[in-house]
Amino acid sequence: MKRDFLSLLDWSTEELWELLELAAHLKREARAGVRQDHLLRGKTLAMIFQKPSLRTRVSFEVGMRQLGGHALYLGPEDIKLGQRETVEDVALNLSRYVDGIMARVFGHEVVEELARFATVPVINGLSDLLHPCQALADVLTIWEKKRRLEGLTLAFIGDGNNVANSLIEASAKFGIRFRIACPETHEPNARIVAEARALGAEVEILRDPKEAAKDADVIYTDVWTSMGQEAEAEVRRRKFQGYTVDLSLISQAKPDALVMHCLPAHYGEEITYEAARSKNSVIFDQAENRLHAQKALLVRLLGGRA
Ligand code: CP
Ligand code: NVA
Repeated sequence: MKRDFLSLLDWSTEELWELLELAAHLKREARAGVRQDHLLRGKTLAMIFQKPSLRTRVSFEVGMRQLGGHALYLGPEDIKLGQRETVEDVALNLSRYVDGIMARVFGHEVVEELARFATVPVINGLSDLLHPCQALADVLTIWEKKRRLEGLTLAFIGDGNNVANSLIEASAKFGIRFRIACPETHEPNARIVAEARALGAEVEILRDPKEAAKDADVIYTDVWTSMGQEAEAEVRRRKFQGYTVDLSLISQAKPDALVMHCLPAHYGEEITYEAARSKNSVIFDQAENRLHAQKALLVRLLGGRA
């Protein structure tokens, strides 16, 4: 049976811990200069993008190369997923050529449909609903810095978007207490919150960023306007006034709190430049860990074992 990685909830906590351990191992090896190009030798990953990307594209492509495989970039203009050809036919065709598919899409149902019809593993490289690869790299980063996950408090400030939804799922899986401060019109997905709570997770939805940040171990934020919502940018800028992560908000959290952002950042909106460059910030460690976390995922899904 092929496995997919569409949502963290599809994987057990044990399996996710195995991924984190493997990611940490691959990272240590890579830093020590150990060659890893036997792990996915001759394997090909198709990367479908309906939206722009820096980190996802580069980290998957470099990751495949380091593991001895190859990645194919298929941009919005290349295949016109669902327009030139149905999602089903794209999945069936690609499955005859490649060993795995990573897709960044608008509607979450598109990546689900790809997974349903593909006979090779499908990885969600961000949908309007979820960003599981980001959350995986983020828990790796938090674990590296704090040496534990269970019992930590993560405060998300801003939009209850795809990144927030995946962090809620990650929190449920790893026993992290999740708090979000957001306007009532921009709460995280209600079904995901309910699923996380049903798993025993603590998910608090607040309005006041200061209340959320109080004594937190992690302060996390993301853009106010996600890809595909550009027409709402002005309205959102007004709605999210007061939801900026700055040095004063960080001072509410524990002194050694981590400041996190999945990037790209809009400095002066959801985070100030000073906050993003403060001693608490680990934003570029997060970006680097996309590579290591996804290499573990690729090894696990596409074949070889480390
Ligand atoms: N964080 C993230 O997914 O970045 P990109 O949009 O650049 O891939
Ligand atoms: N929430 C953002 C994340 C970008 C990596 C978006 O969807 O645009």
